Amino acid sequence: MGSGGREHALAWKLSQSPALEALHAAPGNPGMAGLGECHPVRAEDGEGLISLCRELDIELVVVGPEAPLVVGLVDTLRRAGIAVFGPTAAAARIEGSKGFAKEVLEAAGVPTAARLAVARPPCVVKADGLAAGKGVFVCLTQDELDAGLRGAAALGGDVVIEELLEGEEVSLFAVTDGTTAVALAPAQDFKRVGERDTGPNTGGMGSYSPVPGLGEPEVEELLETVHRPVLAELARRGSPFSGLLYAGLMLTDDGPRVLEFNCRFGDPETQSILPRVEGDLLGALWGAATGELSSDLGIGEGAAVTVVLASGDYPDRGDSGTPIEGVEDAEATGALVFHAGTARQGGRLVTNGGRILDVTAVGEDLVAARSKAYEAVSRISFAGMRFRRDIGLAAAEGHVRS
Ligand code: AMP
Ligand code: GLY
Repeated sequence: MGSGGREHALAWKLSQSPALEALHAAPGNPGMAGLGECHPVRAEDGEGLISLCRELDIELVVVGPEAPLVVGLVDTLRRAGIAVFGPTAAAARIEGSKGFAKEVLEAAGVPTAARLAVARPPCVVKADGLAAGKGVFVCLTQDELDAGLRGAAALGGDVVIEELLEGEEVSLFAVTDGTTAVALAPAQDFKRVGERDTGPNTGGMGSYSPVPGLGEPEVEELLETVHRPVLAELARRGSPFSGLLYAGLMLTDDGPRVLEFNCRFGDPETQSILPRVEGDLLGALWGAATGELSSDLGIGEGAAVTVVLASGDYPDRGDSGTPIEGVEDAEATGALVFHAGTARQGGRLVTNGGRILDVTAVGEDLVAARSKAYEAVSRISFAGMRFRRDIGLAAAEGHVRS
């Protein structure tokens, strides 16, 4: 379910599974159309999806984006007897409400930014509900705080105020059936539109994996400190979480702190994480959906880098109908090109969104993966195309320390 780069990456990885009989996407995108069949049914259309699943005899639904999860698509499909990878609405509140997430973290004893009773800079102001990345205001000065409080109030609902933390940010995903949790490789995403983290926040301009300093033992420790206590707390509350639990962490001098949880795969981290998975993703997602997760996912050596190619006015505005050249040339270099916002117009590939394509390359290390990714990027062009040239650069140069 879904139509972005994350869903294309999921479809690409699932299509490699020996257990896969057929792959269908709803609504999908031109990239996913090369891997399976696309159907014009949207995630908001629960009844339409149920009919489609019955018609196609779908055995497992994998939901990409958060919005349908938060409003209960999983509940709807499960009631209809369809197996689905993703949390129920009650469990998806961990992403849908910052206040609820904070309460669960505190009850589970998981380290997070302290809540502040009084709003005083420096601090962070967060609107409670889903805001597509626009609900968080980092406030260093009184002016920023005034603007942040106004901005959060404009989004409606409650406001959470917390201490400002400093450190490297890491996204750590765990596939879970509600009890067992299996980690994927850690990744870092680049939220700001401009190089050296300048300009407005976006949905993400690139990613890389793994993150220096976070090997298997460190990841296992994070799972034990963060994901497992939260899963236990959600189960205790009668709303066990199955699906993908995404912890947004900050590695501070005082140890890791949770910034947020998401209830689904991250975009564009997934594009860098999945190409490094050696095990059977379909088996793992099936196990998570049916309460029998056992497989270790098997993370390969090496590194991956993803560069997002966005439209010229992104994040203010997207673009549509502009011809895109060079995707096949880019793929011929060995890179993966995931479609994030594209369409076909009379057989021609054109832009259709803010983030247009995600170019991912895998290499021996971050230096090799970066150079392959940027080589592939250089083969692609469309009018207004913008991208960051510094994705994974600091880590490749050894400046990222956890
Ligand atoms: P969130 O949606 O909660 O992840 O917040 C979006 C971004 O805001 C994060 O990726 C961080 O860059 C920043 N952020 C959120 N909470 C804090 C915090 N307590 N201290 C510093 N930065 C934060
Ligand atoms: N990459 C951030 C997110 O998926 O929320």
